[in-house]
Order: sequence, then structure tokens, then C-alpha cells
Amino acid sequence: MQLRRSAAILAATFALSVNAWAQQVIAKAASPGQVLDVEVQIENGGKLGYAVKRNGKQVIGLSRLGFNLANAPKLDGGFALLKQTASLHDSTWEQPWGERQFVRNHYRELRVEVEQKNRGNRRLAIVFRIYDDGIGFRYEFPDQPQLRDTEIIDELTEFAVAQKGTAWWIPAGELPGLEEEIRTSPLSEIGTANTPLTVRLEDGTHIAFHEAALVDYASMWLRKVDGQKLRAQLVASPNGPAVVRHGAFTTPWRTMQIADNAAGLYMSDLVLNLNEPNKLGDVSWVKPSKFVGVWWEMHLQSGTWNAGPKHAANTANTKRYIDFAAKYGFRGVLVEGWNKGWESDWGHGGADFSFTESYPDFDLPGLAAYAKSKGVRLVGHHETGGNLPAYEKQMDAAYKLYAKHGVDSVKSGYVHEAGSMQFMGEDGKLRYGHYDSQLGVRHFLKAVTEAAKYRIAVDTHEPVKDTGLRRTYPNWVSREGARGVEYNAWGNPPNAVDHEAKLVFTRMLSGPMDYTPGVLSLVGAEGKVFNSTQAKQLANFVVIYSPLAMAADLPENYEKYPAAFKFIRDVPTDWADTRVVNGAVGEYVTIARKDRNSQDWYVGAVTDGEKRALALPLSFLDAGKTYVAEIYRDGDAADYRSERRFDLVVEQRRVTAKDVLQLQLAPGGGQAIRFSPVR
Ligand code: NOJ
Repeated sequence: MQLRRSAAILAATFALSVNAWAQQVIAKAASPGQVLDVEVQIENGGKLGYAVKRNGKQVIGLSRLGFNLANAPKLDGGFALLKQTASLHDSTWEQPWGERQFVRNHYRELRVEVEQKNRGNRRLAIVFRIYDDGIGFRYEFPDQPQLRDTEIIDELTEFAVAQKGTAWWIPAGELPGLEEEIRTSPLSEIGTANTPLTVRLEDGTHIAFHEAALVDYASMWLRKVDGQKLRAQLVASPNGPAVVRHGAFTTPWRTMQIADNAAGLYMSDLVLNLNEPNKLGDVSWVKPSKFVGVWWEMHLQSGTWNAGPKHAANTANTKRYIDFAAKYGFRGVLVEGWNKGWESDWGHGGADFSFTESYPDFDLPGLAAYAKSKGVRLVGHHETGGNLPAYEKQMDAAYKLYAKHGVDSVKSGYVHEAGSMQFMGEDGKLRYGHYDSQLGVRHFLKAVTEAAKYRIAVDTHEPVKDTGLRRTYPNWVSREGARGVEYNAWGNPPNAVDHEAKLVFTRMLSGPMDYTPGVLSLVGAEGKVFNSTQAKQLANFVVIYSPLAMAADLPENYEKYPAAFKFIRDVPTDWADTRVVNGAVGEYVTIARKDRNSQDWYVGAVTDGEKRALALPLSFLDAGKTYVAEIYRDGDAADYRSERRFDLVVEQRRVTAKDVLQLQLAPGGGQAIRFSPVR
């Protein structure tokens, strides 16, 4: 008996290794326009895999699917097909705000249901949504008695990139969280990366790996396992297994945007489409707009968040910002440092923050009323220092207070070193862990849904990465989640000259960013200079999308440069349409956007350290109309490496859709243009 069993095991092992490549295709389907196709396969041992072709050419080779569990044998191997179905979907939905008003959701869905025969007969479904510009797939766990509580140690999901490629990525799990410098390296040389991870294959195809609808689950990092193969790594939880779920649930969508070029990646709406529709109903109270605020002076170290002689958020200073906002048409004034608790080492504990008590020199009711009388709103601020229990305890009272004073947007902050966020464990004891663990993911969404109850929009700094949840919760208007302009004040090093040209095709694929652009003075703390010309600062308002956009510089600096400032006053933050005219990751990008509330178009173009000539065909303009183009361009000798970074030329031209403008960008430069139809 014993002998026969060993012989059987031996035979099975032999069969496994010999037939490791003997795959059986159990399901396949193509995107609506036949651009992408997916095959799902099962090998002899019952392991599940998938592969992707684009226009008949392999882009993702056979890649494994499955899970390691903590409380049950792995969900891997022994699988047999139960059922597969395919269906075509085509609909268009409207965004309350966004890069474009209408979004087409056109895909073929392939649903593959499998059962782990002889291993408890546990079931799993893998659902693929195949678009012409990308693929999303997720696992669906049915409610089943054999696996009522699911404790996931790790996903076995792989992405076997079929060609060599260049990757743009940031390391995952490192102390600065998402605020790492964006690296460029061969894909085969990355370590563990955060997503979006952008790859340019040898044949020019671009792929961005990310996820959509990250809800009640751990964030997915991508670990390079060998060659060009990536494997999902779920962020560890301070409570034990990375993910703990009860009953039926679905994982987030694992996404691949796939395009001919970099521009195609940014044009894809895949991540938004894979999210659930709006769950908040009427969200007309979410107001895309621009704000100024008590902010840059702290980063310049001329003001402080805490009380004292340099306390920036005092009543008189805030009034100055309110007057400035009213005079120049900004809707909001951010008030950082108005509340008590900044004296301690807040980035390493955040235990002392009160979210309802102001410093004695800040009159919240009086300033809110003063702002209202001037048609301006205060933008609230909640810095938590990553102390979630302390924040959650006060959250309701904090939002209530803001709502009472007409504050309808809040910038929140979670400054801490990654891995040291504070959570309340299930046992009521304090736990420390990653902001993008399942517990962190839960908190960030809770902060947004609780804010929605008070009709407050949220702009999260030090956030969990964006996975398109703004579609479902449109009050989650913006977030940071990358190195913002503040690094030009105190960063070591400051943002690189190619930062924006990288951001657009990496971080910005996930959603809006509160980049805090528009520092016309081009100087940070202690005389540090920006790797940017003034024209690029203007272009960033178009290039780096955010419905809530801060004009970050000091009022006195804006008044020093009235010609440049006019563009910042004019540029909207809500768009009817967006077109990426050209772009190469980390080199340059030009984006045209149509204002949601007028017939105007805006263009922003930025370059890295190279001087560039870029053709801008105006075919996006309405045919038959004449437009005035207000052009804000680098002067002929402008250069980010010298005082000529301030060389800005503002000029006007009459143009039509038939014209092609030749944009000249200086090293480290940019160009911003407003097109208004001539009446
Ligand atoms: C970091 C944020 O990015 C910045 O905008 C803010 O001023 C500080 N934290 C303080 O909350």
C-alpha cells in the first residue's frame, strides 16, 4: 500500500515536470476591436494561468493565477473548468467632474469559473474585462462552506512580460512611501515596485500595470521574480494575514493598460471604467476649483504650523489670503496649522492633534464668515501624523465643525515613515504597519465616506495610491501620492527636471494629483532653485490634472509676475475633454484640454532637460471658428539652469483648427496656451 502510494506520487511528480508546459486552453476571448486577446489555461496539475496577445503578438506570456492562504491549503493546482461565458458590453457614462465629461466603457467580459477538484471542491471565478486599450481581471470568491473565512497570505498572480523592456517605477515599502524619485531601469532590474508601473517594450508597446477599485483588500506591489516576470505581493497587515475577508468577496482588478505609445496610456479610461458607478447620488456640492493658502511659507520655513512668533495660520494672515483670493477669483483658502497639536514631533506619532480646537490667534468662525462675505471658502486641513486611532476618534466632530462653517473641502495628511502607521488592532491594542495594508485601505475610504455625509470633498496627502475610486465616491477629489512641488522647497534632492514628464505616464495614470503647482518665484527654502522655467510652472496646471488645484506661491510673488499670473487665474480645473497630443515617458508631453464650462481649450507642454521643438496641430479646435491663442512660452534664451529660467514671453495669435503651432521649449521648460473663440 505504502509502496504503491509512493510510486503514484513519483509518477505524478514526473508527469508534472515533464508536462509542465502541457497546457490546455480552457477559455479565450478578444477585445471588441480584436486588438487584445486573452487565453486562460490549465496545466496537467490543475494550475491556472493566463496569457495576453496584442494584434496577434504575445505581450504577456503564460502567467500564474492563484493564492496562498493562511487558514486553508493553497488555492493553486487541482483546478478544473466548471463554466465559462463571454459577453460584450458597451455603454457611456458621465463624470460629475474629470478629464473628460463622457467615458465610453466598451469591453468583452470573460468569466471563468473553476473548482479545485479533490481539494475541498473550493470554487473561484476569474473575470476578465478585455478592452482595446487594456485588460482588467479579478478573482471572485463565492460564499462557500469550505471557505467561509478567507485569510490570504499572498496572491500568486503573475505578469510575465513577453519582451525586454524599460521600466519607470518607484520602489515599494520604502520609508518615503509613494514619494520616491521615479526610477528608470531595464524591467529585468527592478526590485519590488509600486504601481502604476510603466514599461516600454522593445517593440515600442507601452504597458502600465496597476489595480482598480482597491477596497477592503491589501494593496498590490509587484515583485520581479525572474527575467521580465512580475508577481503580485500583497502588503502585509499588522493583524496577520495580508487580507482577511468573510463570505463572498471580490479582489481589486489587476490592470494592464496597453498602448502603441505613452500618449495611449494616458488616454485610457480603463481604471475608472473598472470601478463601480457613483454611490453618493447628487454630488453637485463637489466643486472643482482652485485655491491659495497658508502653506508655502511653512515649506519655505518663514512660517510655522505650530504656535509662536512665526505662526502662519493666524487671523490677520489668513485674512490677507482671503482678500487675495477674492481679488483674483480663487474659490478657496487653505488653512494649515490652525488647529492645536503641532508642537510635538507630529510626523512620528501625531498623538497631540486636536481637530476641533484652534490656536488662540486663529478665529475659525470669524474667518469663515469673513471668507463667506467675500465669496471665498476656507479649505480645511487634517494632519494626522499617521495616527489613525486618534484621528478616527475625532473624525465625526471634525467634519461636523467644518460643515458648520461652510468648509466643503478638506486636505488631509498622513505624514509618517512607511511601515509605522498606527492602527487599532482587533484586540484593541495599538498596531503599527503599512499605510497600504488592508487596514490602511479601509481607513482612507472611511475618511472619504464619512466626509461625504457632511458634503465635504477630500484631498488626501500621503495617501494610499489612487485606484479610480473617485468614480464611486466623487468627493475623493484629489490626493498627493508622489513627490509634489514641496520637494523643491526642502527636498534633497529637489524634483528632477524630468519629473513631470515621468509623472504623467506613471503616477497620473492612477488619477488626479494635488501637485501644488505654479510657484513663479522658482525658489525654495534657503535659496534652493527649481529645475524649471516659469513657463513650465504654468504648463503644469494643464499637464498635472487635479480638480482641486492649489496655486502654491505666496501672494506677493504672484503680484510680482502679473502677466504669468493671468494664466493661473484663467485656467480651469474641470474638463469636457482631454487629448494627449504627444509624449515620451520622462522626456516631454503635450496635453490639450477643453474647459467644461466654456468653449475654451488649454494646452500645456513640458520637457525634461532637453530643449525641444514640438508640433502642435490645432485639429482639436472647432473647424470654422477663429480663436485667440494666448501663448505663455519660454523666451528664446530661457534655461532652467540659469536666471534665464524667468524668461517668459506672453503673446497672442489668431489661429484656426487648420493651423499647426511650433512649440519651442527651453531646457527644463514648457509652454501654456489658452484658446478662446473670437466672438
Ligand atoms: C505634507 C503635505 O504634503 C504638505 O502639503 C503639508 O503641508 C504637510 N504634510 C503638513 O501637513
